[in-house]
Amino acid sequence: MLSGPQDSQRLAAAGVLGAPEVRQPPGHPGGLDHASPGAGVRPGPPRGPGRAGDPSTRLQQAIALWHSPKMREVWEIVQQAARTDATVLIRGETGTGKDLVARSIHYLSPRKERPFVKVNCAAVPRELLETELFGHERGAFTGAHQLKIGKFEAASHGTAFLDEIGDLHPTLQGKLLHVLQDGEFSRVGGRANIKADVRIIAATNQDLERAVASGGFRDDLYYRLNVIQIVVPPLRERPEEIPSLVAYFLERYAAEFRREGFALPPPVMDRLLRYRYPGNIRELENIVKRMIVLNNPVVPPSLHQQTGADNGGGDALPAAEPRALSLKEVAREAARTAERTAIAKALERTGWNRVRAARLLRISYRALLYKMKESGLSQRPEAAPPL
Ligand SMILES: Nc1ncnc2c1ncn2[C@@H]1O[C@H](COP(=O)(O)OP(=O)(O)OP(=O)(O)O)[C@@H](O)[C@H]1O
Ligand SMILES: [Mg+2]
Repeated sequence: MLSGPQDSQRLAAAGVLGAPEVRQPPGHPGGLDHASPGAGVRPGPPRGPGRAGDPSTRLQQAIALWHSPKMREVWEIVQQAARTDATVLIRGETGTGKDLVARSIHYLSPRKERPFVKVNCAAVPRELLETELFGHERGAFTGAHQLKIGKFEAASHGTAFLDEIGDLHPTLQGKLLHVLQDGEFSRVGGRANIKADVRIIAATNQDLERAVASGGFRDDLYYRLNVIQIVVPPLRERPEEIPSLVAYFLERYAAEFRREGFALPPPVMDRLLRYRYPGNIRELENIVKRMIVLNNPVVPPSLHQQTGADNGGGDALPAAEPRALSLKEVAREAARTAERTAIAKALERTGWNRVRAARLLRISYRALLYKMKESGLSQRPEAAPPL
């Protein structure tokens, strides 16, 4: 979704609007020439050259589920952006599908036969991330026994996807700006400039404008990255996709975990339709997956709090002869719920300052990010109307 009229100006400036139709040779690796939103509301056999379960088929199936008006808009921009080498900044809450959007741009682009290299800027400490991105010369520092090729070199003629760009350390922001401005960089410990023919796609679920205002993110880099902006809407703004997503995950995980015939009783389905999914599609996926793994079509207790009024039930909804949980499963589920509650409280107490919340919980910042993501807490909940 474009976030405003200024975006179309940005697109026009980037030469995206009015670009000629792109033609995909049949059978390219992504198989995306067969993909189109709404083409497969119910998961079916892949229509492309791919096999069920392979990544390109997955991507194609995911795109087919973008059938809401908002995701159709995203799809339009994805197709336009894919025709160019313009830098793309993908925004959106956690679990909305930013990763899929980045991949679909790459596999629809003329660079599709070249590498798609993903780097998570939040997951790696700064020193490691620098060599990860730019590589290092032999002897650049103690322990650098061999020359290391960085991700930008590895992605040559392809696409580098910089995920969680809001967490990029200021010194690396400068180096990235150099890549974007001059199309070159140098390896750590090296003097020579290396040409970088890399298309850059970045993603974040952070408020980059606020980070720019507070000095945490360079404004010149922000403008360089923000040539084309794609905002992936949260699932609560495209609830019409929920039934087909549930059907897709049911089919996929029932096959994967050999639970053929696994079905959801109507009250469970109803609960899933009414939930607001702060963790978006990832949360929905995890809920369905957990039910299938446990062979127990009962919605987790955390959903009851957020779907509002109950349909006159306790925790366990009428289910098709639910299997009793083993003690181990009960303990795991209870621990997960307790952890989620503790994290949510710490975040609330610190005004969603993740560094302080991690300190409060006495876990590392990275461990907190991971746990937040797993429990669908990565985004501060906004006041959104219930579904
Ligand atoms: N349309 C879709 N069809 C099927 N699966 C989807 C779809 N959209 C997202 N998913 C699944 O939801 C999960 C989250 O998607 P993704 O990793 O792309 O989100 P994200 O926006 O990058 O999240 P984060 O900000 O936490 O990195 C993934 O497992 C992905 O496969
Ligand atoms: Mg992601």
